[in-house]
Amino acid sequence: MIPRDQLQTAAERFGTPLYVYDAAEIDAALGRVQAAFGGARVYYAMKANPNLALLRRLHGVGIGFECVSGGEIARAAAVGACGEQVLINGPAKLPDDYAAGARLGATFVVDREEEVGLLPPGSRALVRVNPALAVSTHAHLATGAASSKFGVTPAQVPGTLRALRAAGHTALGLHVHIGSAIRDASDFSVAFARLAELHPEVGSLEVLDVGGGWGLDADLPGIAQAAREAASVFGAALWVEPGRYLVARAGTLLTRVVGTKRTGRNFVLTDAGMTELLRPMLYGAEHPVTALWEGSGAAELWDVAGPACESGDLLARDVPLPAPVPGGLLALEEAGAYGASMSSTYLTRPRPAEALWEKGEWRLVRRREALEDLWSAEAGLD
Ligand code: LLP
Repeated sequence: MIPRDQLQTAAERFGTPLYVYDAAEIDAALGRVQAAFGGARVYYAMKANPNLALLRRLHGVGIGFECVSGGEIARAAAVGACGEQVLINGPAKLPDDYAAGARLGATFVVDREEEVGLLPPGSRALVRVNPALAVSTHAHLATGAASSKFGVTPAQVPGTLRALRAAGHTALGLHVHIGSAIRDASDFSVAFARLAELHPEVGSLEVLDVGGGWGLDADLPGIAQAAREAASVFGAALWVEPGRYLVARAGTLLTRVVGTKRTGRNFVLTDAGMTELLRPMLYGAEHPVTALWEGSGAAELWDVAGPACESGDLLARDVPLPAPVPGGLLALEEAGAYGASMSSTYLTRPRPAEALWEKGEWRLVRRREALEDLWSAEAGLD
């Protein structure tokens, strides 16, 4: 936990809006993952938070990276990851992604049968299976539903594995990722059991990759147990791809109160909004909100609203807060995953700075963008 007075210090030193990360919390989450999943190989899904300082820490303790774009592959390479430390995923990889993966010696996750013909010669590959389940999460976050665009159907698995081998690739095994922020752990056991049902047709495998998707309160030992059972059916080693679980609780978005407005609803207006934290608007996500100012009297309920000219630009609804004061700091918690990484420059708003709290000290790990950064790609072209 970052001490409260240090949150104030960081906001004064680096300005707001500001993302802050607690290194010890990332280490603790990784410890829980390793305790639950034993010797499983861990590929951090860097889409959750691709900050180079975080990647360097994870690379330093032997964690691999799951990458879904040329940019993410380049980030993995930038911190020195290569070979078996890089896993390339995604439903529509581009020619440059295959080439970059081949240069690093990465493993590919094949998402459709046609992809077999696109892989660099002699690739190592997994086949992503869509188990066609109802998944307990927001519709945008379910990837293992019958209607979702990911993976091959169970019926297509044997043919895809055969095609990989016939083309001279190493078919390592199967991959499944049913969605993100999944509330009900039994979704995972159902999905893993569906994969195990394929054993009579596909035989033994080197690897079973069960993806990520664990909600923050997920029963990791229960999920790990179900994963181990499925892996043992194939005699396979277990791989996992957590994103959110490793970094969400470590991150807090700090924003300052600009002012208030009462219109029948109580609005507290802040200097951060949908451009810094899109999740409430996009998924109805709820991030805990804490006021860092002292207040007296009964707390009223407030909607936390950002500065964008969009009615949906709300960070939270009906939050009990002591009387807001302009300049007061609000902390939006559990924002380390898919916060900074999904921030945008909409409205020509520079993306926020990011700072890491480590061993009692602050370190700036991303500077606030300057306005010139935002229009440099247009410079001289107007
Ligand atoms: N592996 C694959 C193949 C994935 O597609 C993802 C996430 C992960 C692993 C990591 O999932 P996690 O453990 O973080 O749930 N923007 C959304 C989340 C999208 C996740 C996409 N795929 C959000 O803000 O909640």
